[in-house]
Amino acid sequence: MFNLTLYHEVFYQSRIPQVIASIDLSKIQYNPAFCDFLGYTMDEISELTIESFSHPEDMPKDAQLFGGILSGIRDEYQLEKRFIHKLGDIKTGILNVSRVREQSTGEEFLLGQVLDITEKKQMEMALRHREKKYRLLAEHSSDMIMLHKVDFTYLYVSPSVKTVLGYEPFELIGKSPSQFIHPDDRDEMRRQYRLSANQDSQLITYRCRKKDGSYIWIESTTKTLSDNVSGEPKEIVSVSRDIQQRMETNEMLRKSEKLAVVGQMAAAVAHEIRNPLTPIKGFMQLLHSENEINPIYLKVILDELKRVESIISEFLTMAKPHTEKTTFVQINDVVKQIVQLLQTEALMMNKELNFFSSEFIPAIEGDPNSLKQVFMNVIQNALDAITEQGRIEVNISKDKTGVIVQVVDNGCGISQERLSKLGEPFYSTKEKGTGLGLMTSYRIIESHNGKINIESIDGEGTTVTIWLPYSIN
Ligand SMILES: Nc1ncnc2c1ncn2[C@@H]1O[C@H](COP(=O)(O)OP(=O)(O)O)[C@@H](O)[C@H]1O
Ligand SMILES: [Mg+2]
Repeated sequence: MFNLTLYHEVFYQSRIPQVIASIDLSKIQYNPAFCDFLGYTMDEISELTIESFSHPEDMPKDAQLFGGILSGIRDEYQLEKRFIHKLGDIKTGILNVSRVREQSTGEEFLLGQVLDITEKKQMEMALRHREKKYRLLAEHSSDMIMLHKVDFTYLYVSPSVKTVLGYEPFELIGKSPSQFIHPDDRDEMRRQYRLSANQDSQLITYRCRKKDGSYIWIESTTKTLSDNVSGEPKEIVSVSRDIQQRMETNEMLRKSEKLAVVGQMAAAVAHEIRNPLTPIKGFMQLLHSENEINPIYLKVILDELKRVESIISEFLTMAKPHTEKTTFVQINDVVKQIVQLLQTEALMMNKELNFFSSEFIPAIEGDPNSLKQVFMNVIQNALDAITEQGRIEVNISKDKTGVIVQVVDNGCGISQERLSKLGEPFYSTKEKGTGLGLMTSYRIIESHNGKINIESIDGEGTTVTIWLPYSIN
């Protein structure tokens, strides 16, 4: 049907490395693509034997299959075979050898074709190498590195899980992490996860059950790996570490800050109690000298005693160790109490401390004692910052989603450079300061999902703005 020159052209023009040979291999013809494949010129390759550019390890298999063609067991075979390029590089190809018959003469030939898969092989090798490297990193890391299915069940768990949690990796494979998470932390974890849902990776903290049944605090970063093409989530990688120590230290710092606040409060309370004691003492003396009980005097005495009682009980709730409890909190009342408590101290030093709240402020969800600690510290900080004749204004307002408490002072201010250090523990410029107040305040407000913002101009004053959402979730 087609003439021989056409076949000749097809063979020579083809981009696929090809070779035609007589059955006894006495005549071999390579096409230019084959020469390119191995880097030789047509003349050079014609001088070479097939063995000379075949990888020695692949030769026996090739020879055996080739033998099959010669003996007539098969007419064709396929083999992944390595070739040696003129420059010494290894090329990999899928070699296809078949027996073909020239119809007109009945003469038989061998046709060899090679599909060059060198690049694919190299990529596979590189990938395998990379995988091995990552695995090595995972296996020797002290962090727990895990691979999860999209439903979070474990696919791979690094050996460090043994040191951190006491489990052997195989004990976790196929299981769901939720069964190891402290029941009290599950909702909170879901919330943290949802909050950071649109971020590249997510950071969550929770208590995890060890093999011995005890719980430790763990911090995990998770990242979802998506399919390159469809964008569908495919797997989740997580890196987790033991933060038990860190949590314990934080708790200790929080406690020592509380002690400091209580100490400060004790001074304020002493002043506050001395005030009502003066009229009580006065009226008692009157009672003593008049020898008759005047109900008006009694009323004053009782009112003042009530005031003393409330101050003391306020002080005791602050000082008592307490577990954080979330209830509805009237921020207005909480702040007012703290302002009242610190007012006497302020007045004695000729400092002005004013409280403003013009509108109705709804209750928020939170722990009243922790919040008191925050306001106590922020207002005390403002008092420390102002000199005589200085002024502090505490304003309460609201927006659509929360309550805003602003403490404005015209005190010494904070320089830009120091502003960036606020919230670091033990950073204090005061002789008797602990430098723990702001750190604790930040943490408490954070746990209420609120925000603290501090703006200050050196030498002019500071504004601390605290925003707290109505609802924690
Ligand atoms: N209103 C403010 N005006 C000026 N400086 C402030 C104010 N509030 C905080 N600071 C600075 O921040 C530091 C840290 O405050 P804090 O953490 O409460 O610790 P402490 O009050 O024990 O020093 C203070 O020592 C002070 O230098
Ligand atoms: Mg302070």
